[in-house]
Amino acid sequence: MAISWTSAASYPGWLTSPATPSTFPVLRGRSYNTDSMIERISPAQRVHGIVNAPGDKSISHRYAMLTSIAQGDSEIYNFSSGADCQSTLSCMETLGIRYEFGEEDGRRVLTVHGRGTRGLQAPIRFLDAGNSGSTIRMLSGILAAQPFTTEISGDSSLAKRPMKRIMAPLSEMGARIDAINDQFPPLTIYGSPLHSIDYTLPVPSAQVKSCVLLAGLYANGETVVREPTVTRDHTEIALAELGADITIEPRAVRINGGATLSAKRLVVPGDISSAAFFLVAALLVREADLTITNVGLNPTRTALLDLLRSMGAPIKVLHIEQINGELLGNLQIKSSRIRGGVIEGAATAALIDEIPILSVLGALSEEGLIVRNAAELRVKETDRIETIAGNLRRMGVNVTTTQDGLEIPGRQKLHPAEIHSHGDHRIAMAFSVAALASGGDCLIHDAEAASVSFPEFFETLRQIAH
Ligand code: S3P
Repeated sequence: MAISWTSAASYPGWLTSPATPSTFPVLRGRSYNTDSMIERISPAQRVHGIVNAPGDKSISHRYAMLTSIAQGDSEIYNFSSGADCQSTLSCMETLGIRYEFGEEDGRRVLTVHGRGTRGLQAPIRFLDAGNSGSTIRMLSGILAAQPFTTEISGDSSLAKRPMKRIMAPLSEMGARIDAINDQFPPLTIYGSPLHSIDYTLPVPSAQVKSCVLLAGLYANGETVVREPTVTRDHTEIALAELGADITIEPRAVRINGGATLSAKRLVVPGDISSAAFFLVAALLVREADLTITNVGLNPTRTALLDLLRSMGAPIKVLHIEQINGELLGNLQIKSSRIRGGVIEGAATAALIDEIPILSVLGALSEEGLIVRNAAELRVKETDRIETIAGNLRRMGVNVTTTQDGLEIPGRQKLHPAEIHSHGDHRIAMAFSVAALASGGDCLIHDAEAASVSFPEFFETLRQIAH
């Protein structure tokens, strides 16, 4: 596999390559009732074309936060169009950061006017993190170190998500945070000078790791975050890119407080967790030949490719580059029978966002899918063990849930059904793909949830599935 190294300065033109036009749409219609958008999805025989994966959600959050506290103007290409990353930008705006979207050679570019690590302003209203766990958890690390008090909250789903996991290390660093029942948003964060800690993550969570590293950027001395299970490392890579005093070791990251960050030209790779829906779509139909361009291939995110290949998926990586410390490339996939398998231990943590779509694949695989050690699924945007199982059952699939996982026998049929996303973007998208392999039209209720990470999802699906 050829690897070439590219810097943002020699930013390539391929981010603008157009998607293949469709011959006829998969989606016959879209209707609205008072509070929910319904998408109708018809079965497909073929998945074909080129998909530009949308900008990675995880990396976009990090770039929005870090360029805000860097000194000077940063330009960010391919920033996520999802509502979650817009929530991060809005929070930064409430903290006095100016930003704007412009266009350069037909590409959307976000300019963030960074004010330095000490440049944030006391907010005059509460910060709204919307549906975004990444926003509230990571940003809390920065807020804990500010010379002012901030209130941050979000939607009804966010209000149920556990915050003790960030409150504990931040309190150890000297912060004071109030929460509902000591663990749920809204959070009131009383900023104060922080001291460094040596912290071992009790749950594998990149959001918690990032929160402590961002607080560590402001603390006096060296903060160490140790992780028994590897999680995505975008924060440490981005901090290094912008000039933080940071050392990345296997299973540990060290950051010295007090460094200044410098503005930079940054390119966000495509989101492999969004690409996952199209990879699986290609595996579910009779005939597929799909290319997904500019997909982030950071090794902490590519467990999906390893798993699909181990199950028999013919996936080729056509091209790899490195930009801003992140790998990205093009993927080509064709349809194939899939064996199925078991996801457990460290693999569960590495695949946590992909389990909804892998569960759909599991039902159609030869041997089925078992997911273990996935209690974290219960505290995502929805209790995903229940929302996956509930929707699979609606499609007539036999599935057993456990406290921390799912057992889905293989060789099952998916029947047309009314699906409920429960406001969870990955459930909306996973079951829209399931609908392609069902015997008739499916209705996806609360389909608008997809726009949390991928507003162009239905349009893209329409273009490639026939
Ligand atoms: C994310 C980390 C993961 C993931 C989430 C995004 C991130 O959450 O599920 O979608 O950007 O760091 P946890 O840190 O809670 O595992």
